[in-house]
Amino acid sequence: MLSQHWAPDSWRTKPIEQAPVFPDLAALAEVERQLASFPPLVFAGEARKLKAMLGKVAKGEAFLLQGGDCAESFAEHSADNIRDFFRVFLQMAVVMTFAAASPVVKVGRVAGQFAKPRSEPMEKRGDVALPSYRGDIVNDIAFTEAARIPDPARQLDAYRQSAATLNLIRAFASGGYANLENAHRWMLGFIKDSPQSARYQELADRISETVGFMRAIGLDPEAHHELRQTDFYTSHEALLLGYEQALTRIDSTTGDPYATSGHMLWIGDRTRQLDHAHIEFARGVKNPLGLKCGPSLKPDNLLRLIDVLDPDNEPGRLTLICRFGADKAAELLPTLLRAVKREGRNVLWSCDPMHGNTIKAASGFKTRPFDRIISEIRTFFAAHQAEGTYAGGVHLEMTGKNVTECTGGARAISEADLSDRYHTYCDPRLNAEQAIEIAFLVAELLKVERLNRMKQEVRAAE
Ligand code: PEP
Ligand code: CO
Repeated sequence: MLSQHWAPDSWRTKPIEQAPVFPDLAALAEVERQLASFPPLVFAGEARKLKAMLGKVAKGEAFLLQGGDCAESFAEHSADNIRDFFRVFLQMAVVMTFAAASPVVKVGRVAGQFAKPRSEPMEKRGDVALPSYRGDIVNDIAFTEAARIPDPARQLDAYRQSAATLNLIRAFASGGYANLENAHRWMLGFIKDSPQSARYQELADRISETVGFMRAIGLDPEAHHELRQTDFYTSHEALLLGYEQALTRIDSTTGDPYATSGHMLWIGDRTRQLDHAHIEFARGVKNPLGLKCGPSLKPDNLLRLIDVLDPDNEPGRLTLICRFGADKAAELLPTLLRAVKREGRNVLWSCDPMHGNTIKAASGFKTRPFDRIISEIRTFFAAHQAEGTYAGGVHLEMTGKNVTECTGGARAISEADLSDRYHTYCDPRLNAEQAIEIAFLVAELLKVERLNRMKQEVRAAE
């Protein structure tokens, strides 16, 4: 495979999982032709910059925070939603940066996270069975026959929504909103009376003091763009390959192909077969890549995937996103860590504590118990500590809204509460308060990890 020729469309000759069946192939081809003529959403240079940052994470010099909706939707596309998401994300990042004294690389599951793999091709309700919903970029969530027919025109809507979302995020990231001196103002109204709020306000006070101290000793915060703006990157699952191919462009600076639908793309746990279409597509684009690693992934298979996706062993190229479930992580993760370390592969290890911990509540709602999410994160850090590897990131499904989708957390959302504000289009997300609670936990674990590393380095130097 390695020596084989790659082209943006070479995936088309491979077997493929999770591909929607479009009834009108001529309409699909026309949409792909249009997409191929549209401007790129992101630039190759930005993807390279992200790769360099992720390379630092892989070396243990920074931490990756990746998160956002399970599935973005057309119906919930609004400035308020984007702002609230961005705000919580900034809060989480600042908690980790400040409490753990670690640079945080910020990557949203946003501005392109539309296509969904499904466990079942058909959804049954009573006696009726219809094709499953595969994300707004493919079909409509309404449970009617017409709604579930894959419609290529949705890809144009997804492209335009991604462009608008990215435009707003770029403005937030560079236009003053992300200024660290605004840290107090990022607090969302509905969290104000929560336990997380008091902790967060205390941290924001310390940031204000620090910036005040800088001023007092003659450093001008205005002169440091790091304080006034932030780098924020986009990512999504590269599932709908026709769309990805249409947005793949040759970078004029390097002559290399880049996916321009988002800065980072990942391959899902259901589409990571070595000789199949999704791996074929991903291996040829130069963006930073993620690979979801679930319980069925064996060490040998993982090593072969790494060979194909990252043949040059380039730091930052490949992020392994582990999603085993709280009960399996302690058994499965160490074997993979050892195999990858033994082969000397420069990967970034990240923890997705969401997808292995989904359960069905008695009421029928899919949910994720907060305790299990926390337990998988703790296990992840402990396994790295034991193996002498670096726990480099977390990958979360979260929203800035006050939803009730995951049970537990400081407000002890119960299964009975789930129906109050259950809005997700796919998997249950952490609400803003739960997301900040996770950020504090990660910050604590990260602080310990970084202190241990420093001690090791001192010992090694002695
Ligand atoms: C997801 O990230 O929404 C997802 C479907 O994950 P996985 O491929 O790990 O199941
Ligand atoms: Co999901």
